[in-house]
Amino acid sequence: MRVTVIGCGYVGLTTSVTLAYIGHQVHCIDQDENRIRALQKGIVPVHEKGVSELLGEVKDHLTFGDWDSFDQSVDALIIAVGTPGKKNGDADLIYVESVAQELGSRLTGDKLPVIVNKSTVPIGSARRVESVVRYCRKNTGSNAPVMVVSCPEFLREGAALHDSFYPDRIVVGSQHDYAVNILRQVYAPILEQTFNEPGFFPRPDGYTLPAFITTTPTSAELIKYAANTFLAIKISYINEIAGLAERVGADIREVARGIGLDKRIGLPYLNAGVGWGGSCFGKDISALIHIGDQYDFEMLLSSAAINVNRRQRDEIIKKLQSALKVIRGSTIGLLGLSFKPGTDDLRDAPSLTIANRLIELGAHVKAYDPVAAYRIQNNEYGSNIECASDPEMLASGADALVLVTEWSEFMQLPYEQLGKLMRQKVIIDGRNVLDSGALKDAGFVYLGVGIC
Ligand code: UDX
Ligand code: UDX
Repeated sequence: MRVTVIGCGYVGLTTSVTLAYIGHQVHCIDQDENRIRALQKGIVPVHEKGVSELLGEVKDHLTFGDWDSFDQSVDALIIAVGTPGKKNGDADLIYVESVAQELGSRLTGDKLPVIVNKSTVPIGSARRVESVVRYCRKNTGSNAPVMVVSCPEFLREGAALHDSFYPDRIVVGSQHDYAVNILRQVYAPILEQTFNEPGFFPRPDGYTLPAFITTTPTSAELIKYAANTFLAIKISYINEIAGLAERVGADIREVARGIGLDKRIGLPYLNAGVGWGGSCFGKDISALIHIGDQYDFEMLLSSAAINVNRRQRDEIIKKLQSALKVIRGSTIGLLGLSFKPGTDDLRDAPSLTIANRLIELGAHVKAYDPVAAYRIQNNEYGSNIECASDPEMLASGADALVLVTEWSEFMQLPYEQLGKLMRQKVIIDGRNVLDSGALKDAGFVYLGVGIC
């Protein structure tokens, strides 16, 4: 099949590489010419495991260009541009709509490609894109049906290619059988798992063929929001229980295991800690709440998940206040900046909220991150955080360390040696991943989340 993807971000680029790898001819368009030029040289602008390697393998099937390279004679057009959140919580469709206008002015033929909304978009967006494209085509004289399908992505950053090759399900929201069949053909190698396993991503043991779910565009759009919101609520749930565990003397890791082994609950997404961040959870929950507001239907649980998540970051400050007594004049070292391991993405990262609050309280904040540090060095998020080039520099003179991102290298650090460099030996384990016994033996005051 011939596919054009519009938007070369985490989602668009991963989708393009995956579809090219399973045998389609893919052309990826982006408005950012620097990004296009980099990609044409094989330079990947996002930190996503395996994308660079696979890009080299699929270069005969994957090309990049700007809008001048647009070709309407393809089977499917996938929209994967950003849908940032507005201040009122609504998803901003400015980019999606500008792409729809662009398509409307370029789709002049009598046989139109299927347009696919891959970006996370509010309920009714498939219909909106359809009406914008149809309006912009009004002078072509062609009455070819404009078919817009909602096909949400469920990709985790840092595992996006894995999730693309081995999804649990492919969701297609459309009323047009033709459009559903085109998507079924596009995803056939994944639905049947007939592609050669990429070296980087062997097929998981016990992986079962993904479901191909066909539904209405509205249900498909709601599936995306409902999935992300549920995952965020599950995390906020265990974080609320963690707060109680601390106060009653329970261990949240054992409580999580005790409930997670119930197959109706499940162990994944029950790790208590500093809470969730990233470009999706907060944005998507706020969008869902905003949609509820439009119908005067208060999304109580979703709002509570946001409030609990916000409190997790405050709890880290309280732990530091209880251990250090005075924050003003102290030096705090953050272990990790990215919102989770495996990515360099700082969108809604807990580290930034914690750092900014500590700076407001008069602390000097340093941070070390094996991948995302360059974003602080480039002052992408202000210039108040000192960037440490290694853990030793981070620990030197610090009164406390806070593990915010559970990068695997942080579990192997020589904490006894790092402690000797510190002014006070306090460590807050924001992800409950460190060896509390060894740290206490090394003279640290150790505080976890939901752990006594
Ligand atoms: C984004 C949203 O964040 C996510 O919620 C949605 O599901 C998919 O789109 P992501 O890939 O992270 O995911 O977006 P981003 O990293 O912001 O990349 C978007 C790309 O689209 C950028 O490269 C940008 O240059 C490009 N773009 C944006 C266009 O080509 N045209 C536009 O009009 C706007
Ligand atoms: C999420 C969804 O998983 C994905 O399906 C959707 O397409 C985009 O949003 P992502 O945001 O990349 O993916 O990260 P994910 O791995 O789901 O983690 C989200 C956040 O939850 C991270 O900040 C992570 O640190 C946190 N988390 C995750 C917890 O705090 N506890 C957990 O047990 C799991």
